[in-house]
Amino acid sequence: MSRLALAAPLLLAPILGLAACGQDAPSTPAMTPAKPVHVLTEAEKASLLAALPAPYNAGDLENGRRAFARCRSCHTIGEGGADMAGPNLYGVFGRKAGERPRYNYSNAMRTANFTWDADKLDHWLQNPRGFLPGNKMTFPGLPDAKDRRDVIAFLKVETGYKPEPAPAS
Ligand code: HEC
Repeated sequence: MSRLALAAPLLLAPILGLAACGQDAPSTPAMTPAKPVHVLTEAEKASLLAALPAPYNAGDLENGRRAFARCRSCHTIGEGGADMAGPNLYGVFGRKAGERPRYNYSNAMRTANFTWDADKLDHWLQNPRGFLPGNKMTFPGLPDAKDRRDVIAFLKVETGYKPEPAPAS
């Protein structure tokens, strides 16, 4: 018998052992998948946009996305997104101003008594300081009405999705 023939089982044993172990071991628990992010269909985007009053319902979403670049340094918009200098804006339409839990608003914003809709956002974004004196959003505003219309349309589409089934029409 050659030395090789003797050595072979010894070399193989650990490998076989490992394989057997792998078979016997309880299957690894699957990692809890992160909540899937809902990717809006074109139809869902269109119906969110159509839910806005004029002129916002004619907003140009691509220009809105570009205009929103000026907000991104302070705001996230995705569901569950972090608060940065400014609060996460998911679900802002229909939410009372200054109501995002755990975000540290100015007193002016926290005690402001109104609900965000497209017109309120328009006035806010035109001149944040004039709209709500004492607020702490250090942003001069978007002077261009079309940029405001488009950023509001973009925000509605990006932050306004609610998973309830749409009423049958
Ligand atoms: C330099 C940082 C900064 C930029 C840029 C900025 N924001 Fe803000 N934003 C803030 C802060 C801070 C607040 C909270 C204000 C307060 O508490 O007084 C705020 C508040 C808001 C709110 C009110 C949210 C709520 O929960 O009531 C909205 C809406 C908003 N910002 C939209 C925008 C949009 C849209 C843009 C871009 C066109 C923008 N912001 C740009 C910092 C910023």
